[in-house]
Amino acid sequence: MGEESGERIAVIGAGLMGHGIAQVFAARGHAVSLMDIERERLDAAMENIRGNLQKMAGHGIYRFEDIDDTLARISTSICMEETCARADFVVEAISEQPILKRALFRDLDAICSPRTVLATNTSVISITEIAREAVGRERVVGTHFWNPPYLIPLVEVIPGRDTAPWAVEHACSLLRAAGRHPVRVKKDVPGFVGNRMQHALWREAISIVEQGIADAETVDEVVKMGFGLRLPVLGPLENADMIGLDLTLQIHDYILEHIEDSSEPSPLLREKVEKGELGFACGEGFRAWTPQEMEECRMRLWQYLMERGKE
Ligand code: NAI
Repeated sequence: MGEESGERIAVIGAGLMGHGIAQVFAARGHAVSLMDIERERLDAAMENIRGNLQKMAGHGIYRFEDIDDTLARISTSICMEETCARADFVVEAISEQPILKRALFRDLDAICSPRTVLATNTSVISITEIAREAVGRERVVGTHFWNPPYLIPLVEVIPGRDTAPWAVEHACSLLRAAGRHPVRVKKDVPGFVGNRMQHALWREAISIVEQGIADAETVDEVVKMGFGLRLPVLGPLENADMIGLDLTLQIHDYILEHIEDSSEPSPLLREKVEKGELGFACGEGFRAWTPQEMEECRMRLWQYLMERGKE
């Protein structure tokens, strides 16, 4: 387990996602260089990775005796050249701003060897747009991990307009070998697959509260105690096939005109953000939260994902 294996990975941005992505590859034996513009972020990232691995080991999904070796495979730097010059695969996880990402990929393209795959963890931005200022656009690919990347296996792999098939193939096989579950998205559209569906649901949830149909607690209860119970084992299209497409058509024929279809964020959401009601950050969002309730909510999610990790 002390041995290093496979490709050298560079991760740019050591925040919430970057530290978790570095952990995924280091835990599978890769040498990982983690880079951020802020030294403190790198120190915090190493602490967080240690804490994550300890909790995972406490739940029996990692080995206590492997933690130090995994941490030793991760080096940190605030210098991009030093981080990327020898990397075989680079994952970008900096802030979600198109202008920053475009500039970063232009620079990465100039620094890295032509066969190095340059991947972006953007949540919603078009891969083609991110690659626009790079010359070697054929090796730029989207690899959209989900938080936390070491517990949620899915990674959406998205080609941009100029991405070569070899870069997509390379990303998929590397991710599979690292214990992730890559899926190929055929078209480079904003939000890819997961976030389009997730935010269609959130838009409707917010609209239901806004229209006074149900309060926020009830909306979440309907999901958690109702159709949400099926989702880990039955996708929406499997579900449609199961109940029959004729019934699905009848339901859509009646209901679709009543469902939220606004292409603007909800006025209720805007109003809350303007008032500073940002959710957990201040204890007030769609509902009020005590510090204890927030902690319980985080723990519930963590415990659930850990249990899933044992399967
Ligand atoms: P974050 O704000 O926690 O971390 C971003 C990090 O990037 C910060 O530490 C910042 O100092 C660093 N950074 C900014 N510019 C940089 C540069 N030019 N070079 C090096 N480092 C730089 O952000 P988070 O949440 O980790 O998101 C990162 C990316 O992952 C975004 O594109 C986001 O949309 C995406 N993503 C986020 C998810 C989430 O649940 N937060 C889930 C999936 C994707």
